[in-house]
Amino acid sequence: MAYIISVVNQKGGVGKTTTTVNLAAYIGKKKKKVLFIDLDPQGNATSGLGVDKGDIENSTYDVMVDDLPISEAIISSSAKNVDICPTNINLAGAEVELVSAMSREQILKNAIKEVEADYDYIFIDCPPSLGILTINALTASDGLIVPIQGEYYALEGLTQLIETVNIVKKKLNNKVGITGVVLTMFDRRTQLTRQVKEEVENYFGDKVFKTQIPRNVRLAEAPSHGLSISDYDPNSKGGKAYEALAKEVISRTKAKK
Ligand SMILES: Nc1ncnc2c1ncn2[C@@H]1O[C@H](COP(=O)(O)OP(=O)(O)OP(=O)(O)O)[C@@H](O)[C@H]1O
Ligand SMILES: [Mg+2]
Repeated sequence: MAYIISVVNQKGGVGKTTTTVNLAAYIGKKKKKVLFIDLDPQGNATSGLGVDKGDIENSTYDVMVDDLPISEAIISSSAKNVDICPTNINLAGAEVELVSAMSREQILKNAIKEVEADYDYIFIDCPPSLGILTINALTASDGLIVPIQGEYYALEGLTQLIETVNIVKKKLNNKVGITGVVLTMFDRRTQLTRQVKEEVENYFGDKVFKTQIPRNVRLAEAPSHGLSISDYDPNSKGGKAYEALAKEVISRTKAKK
C-alpha cells in the first residue's frame, strides 16, 4: 500500500511545489513507484513535471467534482517512475462546487483507494489555503511535510495549520501526522535564517529535517524546462539537497509501510 504524503502550508510561495516535485522525482529514482497528485489549481507542479496544462484530457477537477475514477486521469510525467494526476485552472471552481457535496472532505481519500496498491508513495501538492482541497489532502494522508521559508514571519499561520491538522485528526483521519518540517530557501550565512531555524526547532523539535534546502537558482529554472532538479541539474546544490531530503523522507516513512 502506498504511503501518502501531503506537502502543506497555507502560506504562498514557501516552496511547497518545488519540494513536492523534487522529492517525488528523487524517490522515483530510487526505484519506488510514485504517484503525484496536483491539488493546486495553479497547476505549477503539472507543468513543472513536463505536462502541458492546455493539453490535459482528464484532471484532478474531474476526479474531485465529477467522480471520474482517478486511474482515468493519471498519465506519465517527465520524471522516472513518477505518474501524475494533473490539474489545470478548472480546479479553482472546486472549492465552490464542493460546498454541498456529500462527504466532501473524503472525496480524494476515496478516489485514491482505486490505485493505492499500485504505488509505493503518493505525493499531494496542496494550494496555499486551508480550504476544502487542502482538507481533502489532510484527510487522505498518512504523513505531512511542512516547508517553511527562512524569513521574517516564517512561523506566522503555523498555529492555524496545526489546529486544522488536529481537527482533521480528530474528526476525519486519526492516522495523519507530521512526517517532517523542512526549511526552504535557506541561507545559512545570514543571522536571520539562523534565528528562524532556532525558532522552528523550538516549535517542532525533532520533526525538523536535518537537511535544509538552500536558495539555488537551478531549482527555480528547472520547472520552465518541465523537469525536476534530478533531471535538470542533479549536481547543483539544490539537487544534492533534495536528494538528501528524499533519503530522510524514505527512512522516516519506511517503518510505517
Ligand atoms: N530553494 C529555492 N531556491 C530558489 N528558488 C526557489 C527555491 N524554492 C522555491 N523557489 C522558487 O520560489 C517560488 C515559489 O516556490 P514554490 O512554487 O515551490 O512555492 P509554493 O509554496 O508551492 O507556492 P504556492 O503557495 O504559490 O503554491 C518559485 O518561483 C520557485 O521556483
Ligand atoms: Mg505551489
